[in-house]
Amino acid sequence: MTKSRFPKEFLWGGATAANQVEGAFDKDGKGLSIFDMVTFVPKEERGAIEMDIKSEAELASLLAGEKGDNFPKRRGVDFYHRYKEDIALFAEMGFKTYRLSISWPRIFPNGDDAEPNEAGLAFYDKVFDELLKHDIEPLVTISHYEMPLNLVQKYNGWEDRRLVDFFVRYAETLFNRYKDKVKLWLTFNEINISTLSPYIGSGMLVERLTNREQSIYQALHHQFVASALAVKACHQVIPEAKIGCMLARMEVYPETCHPDDVLAALEEDQKNLFFTDVQVRGAYPNFMLDYFKKNNINIEMQPGDQEILAAHPVDFLSFSYYMSMVASGSPEKKKEKGNFFSGVKNPYLEASDWGWQIDPKGLRITLKKMYDRYQVPLFIVENGLGAYDTVEEDGSINDDYRIDYLRAHIEQMGHAIEDGVDVMGYTSWGCIDLISASTSEMSKRYGFIYVDQDDYGNGTLERKKKKSFDWYKKVIETNGADLT
Ligand code: BG6
Repeated sequence: MTKSRFPKEFLWGGATAANQVEGAFDKDGKGLSIFDMVTFVPKEERGAIEMDIKSEAELASLLAGEKGDNFPKRRGVDFYHRYKEDIALFAEMGFKTYRLSISWPRIFPNGDDAEPNEAGLAFYDKVFDELLKHDIEPLVTISHYEMPLNLVQKYNGWEDRRLVDFFVRYAETLFNRYKDKVKLWLTFNEINISTLSPYIGSGMLVERLTNREQSIYQALHHQFVASALAVKACHQVIPEAKIGCMLARMEVYPETCHPDDVLAALEEDQKNLFFTDVQVRGAYPNFMLDYFKKNNINIEMQPGDQEILAAHPVDFLSFSYYMSMVASGSPEKKKEKGNFFSGVKNPYLEASDWGWQIDPKGLRITLKKMYDRYQVPLFIVENGLGAYDTVEEDGSINDDYRIDYLRAHIEQMGHAIEDGVDVMGYTSWGCIDLISASTSEMSKRYGFIYVDQDDYGNGTLERKKKKSFDWYKKVIETNGADLT
């Protein structure tokens, strides 16, 4: 065992989102969320992004039950009723932090309600108390793909400026209620997803949009302003709290050293870093203003918006990291599929069963690059391997492939810290098996804790420790010194 490379106060833990674990989608006054509407589609019938609902007709047919009744995110893994048992298991692994999201429609069932739903607020009080009892610090995502459906139906989501007020009221409600319990916050999960999935990222039905790109960037502008106002409110209500943004980070490599490929990679990378440029540096970068001009995109800003963005940057930058991408200067090159993103195949990397190109060193590269660019603390709030697990006859689950994946990434994160990068913590994604965001599968598992449930909701929901459970426990115990 070597000396730990990780700071003493390093925040080890795991991450989930309300819509993927809670279930109880209609309990205690909760309204429907955008993800409650996504049905399970078997792999062979699947297209590119299954979760994007495009039209009012599609939504109406889902609401009428015409597309079946297998809505996996409505059932999650029943964390709503089993949170005590689950948190006890997190505590057994030694978690210092647990990243969870609050379901917006549990608090404001319609999103535009004047008053919050007390039963929803009370649920998270209980969850936070349980975490604090075990010395686990909550890290809370305010919005993780859980917009109240009513905001889609009535306003077409973030296309409408009024969403800023609804979101800020929601965020302020959370800060006031949980100010003594939660000191670490994130505004929007993977804010960049809107460019690929306007429904999930911004609550917009694309068939309602006359100019798709214009609407996406307008909606994002509203989200940027709302996020900055939430940062402001958080600092006012909980001065000792830290609040960050969250990016689905894509490290992009050029396919070759041909300058055309290098330029293509740089431009892809800029598209990704645009979001953190606004949220960390507090202003739209020139390359994006130029892109808007060339593409006839006119962002409508209200007076004072730019000042709001500049005055309230985030305290830290958090991101998810699963894979890296390759860009080519030749547009005809075939693209590989990721969860939401696609790129050219990297011949040096292996891919997961879902085609995600596994690249631990890319994590070190990305940490170094982002720290150089922003000079703010970084937090890896999602990383992990989605895989099929097998329960052996003796009940054991030997997920060595998951241990290998995590070990290699943690190792590289350690090197980045040695290289001088300020990393606050690491929360591995789906610390307990949950419903996949992109495919709604249960069989795509990330957890240290197995949950007995299949893609159709059959199973006892019993929790079982996988081999990776004890491995991660040791990693935390030794503060990352022992990764064997
Ligand atoms: C991120 C999301 O995109 O990736 C999570 O923030 C998601 O919600 C995770 O679950 C893994 O993706 P998937 O599609 O395998 O669940």
